Parts: sequence; C-alpha cells; structure tokens
Amino acid sequence: MIELEKIKEQFLSEVNGKKLSRSDWERIHTKYIGRKGLITDATIQLKDLPKEQKPQFGKVLNEVKSFVEEKLGEIKEELLKSEDALQEHFDFTLPERKQFVGHTHPLTQILDEIKSIFYGMGFTVADGPEVELDYYNFEAVNIPKDHPARDMQDTFFFSDNVVLRTHTTPVQARMMEKHKPPIRIICPGRVYRKDTPDATHLPVFNQVEGLVVDENVTFADLKGTIGTFVHRMFGKEIGTRFRPSFFSFTEPSAEVDISCIFCKGKGCRVCKNSGWIEIMGSGMVNPKLYEYAGYEKGRYSGYAFGMGVERIAMLAYDVNDLRLFLENDIRFLRQF
Ligand code: DAH
Repeated sequence: MIELEKIKEQFLSEVNGKKLSRSDWERIHTKYIGRKGLITDATIQLKDLPKEQKPQFGKVLNEVKSFVEEKLGEIKEELLKSEDALQEHFDFTLPERKQFVGHTHPLTQILDEIKSIFYGMGFTVADGPEVELDYYNFEAVNIPKDHPARDMQDTFFFSDNVVLRTHTTPVQARMMEKHKPPIRIICPGRVYRKDTPDATHLPVFNQVEGLVVDENVTFADLKGTIGTFVHRMFGKEIGTRFRPSFFSFTEPSAEVDISCIFCKGKGCRVCKNSGWIEIMGSGMVNPKLYEYAGYEKGRYSGYAFGMGVERIAMLAYDVNDLRLFLENDIRFLRQF
C-alpha cells in the first residue's frame, strides 16, 4: 500500500507543473502503465499477496491506476491541442518563400558566349598584362611615338614607357614574339581609356581581340570567321558588312557592321536609320608586325579583329546605357 502511494507521488512529481513534450509523455506512460511499468508490476504482485490483503491492495491499486491513466489522458489532450495551435502558424496555402539564387553577371554571360563561339572554331584563349609597356601597346603594333593614331586612344600613362593598355591588341605582339605560326587565339580582357563615363563610354571596359596567323590566310577566312560569329551570336538572319577603315596594325583594315538586329535593316533609331550597326574593327595583319616578331619575310599572312564586350552586350540585351552594367543594381542584374 505504502508502495502504491509512493508510485502515485513519484508520478505526480514527474507531471505536476511540468511542461511535457510528446516524448516525455511516451516515456512516463511506459514507466507507469507500460507492459513492464510500475503499476503493471504492482498488478502482478497482487496475486502473491495474502488473501486478506488482496481486496484493500486491489482497491488502492485501481484508484492509483485510474488516477494515472486519467492524468496521462488529460496531458495528452493538452499536447494535441498545442500541436494543433502550432500548426496554425503554418499557412500551407502561402506561396513558398523563394531562395534567391544568383547567377553570373550579364557581361560575363556574353563573354562566355563569345568565347564558346570561338572555341567552336578552334580558337584558344591568350592573356596579357593590363599594365602594359608603351612598346607593346603602341610601338609593336605599328603605332610609333608621334603617330596620329595615338590620339585616337586617350591613354592613362604611368610613366613614359608604362601605360594602362588602351586595347587588347598588344597581346598580338606578345603572342607573335613568343610563338611561331600557326596562331589562332582570342584574348578577352580589360582595357582603359581616359574617357568620361556616359551612356556609350567607360574609362574601363572589355575587349575581345582575335588573331590568326598561318600560311595562306586570306581576307575570305576573316569574312567567314566573323560571319559565322555574327550568325551564332545574333542569329542566322543577321548580315555582315565590311567597310574600309584604318588601323595601323592591319592592312587593309575594315570596320565590321551587322544588319540592325532591331529593325532587321529597315532603319530605326538604334542604327540611325542606316540599317547597319558597327560591332568591331578588323583587317589583315600588317606585315610590319611580322617584322617586329622576327618572322621570316613573306611567309605568313593572317587576320585580326577586336570588339568591345559591352557593345555586344548592349546589342544582345537591348540595353541603352553602358553604365547600367557597372552599377550592380540587383533589379537590373536579375533580368538576365
Ligand atoms: N584595337 C582596336 C581598338 O581598340 C580594335 C581592333 C581593330 C583590333 C582592328 C584589331 C583589329 O585586332 O584588327 O579600337
């Protein structure tokens, strides 16, 4: 009997004023009225008791048992209620909260696309320094000191001999100085010009240079390569036009125009009603550059081209202000 009272007291001390979890409840349930629980145990003891003690013990046992069962029942109900309440905090009809997954910058996406088109035509990527010697930036690509072509490129000078490269063309000179033909490279990279930023100018921008040198390379190869690039980049229906121009590192030189991707050549605001948009400079490598590289005279020919990555991106994405690419406004960037 005393034992039964003790069991009841112990039980009360475990449940009264306690905040029980579902697993606490399971544990207590097992401890008292489970198959090997204390009360179940006491029930088994009942049959070994002397006959005269049985009725009294049985009565108390039943009382304790019902008490424990009732209490556990109440606690369970409370538990279920609070679990329900908890569930009410979740409105399963709400749209999911989206995790924002970032992506590469639109300029990087365009650059990757340009690279992959040229990889497909057998080009590899070459690299060169952004802080460049005057020699490679100008001299070795046939822009001697005092040449008027220097005026076309407002330059950041570190000293008389060191500049921030104004174009990726110096990589041509470095490449040819180190390697004999065949050469088939593109060189993407940052270039610098002393320009005030506006919708179409930035003091820092990106170019992709191309250089192919081998025996018997002709202007037709240049046209084929650029025509293929334009088709893959802008679509099969876009035409290419070569317009005579001047670059001291190519002879002859040409600007490459594409038929306007917005009006398909009919004439609109973007192409200034001409139906054409300029996208890059190009030409046959000036033999002067082979002299600088120390190549055998008359043996090689080649072509080169250079384009602005931002310019291609503006056309591909129909963005009318270059500065948007640098402001890194997430609302702008998310659109790509
Ligand atoms: N370097 C020229 C520029 O920055 C672009 C260019 C034109 C590169 C013609 C070339 C080329 O390789 O052949 O304006």
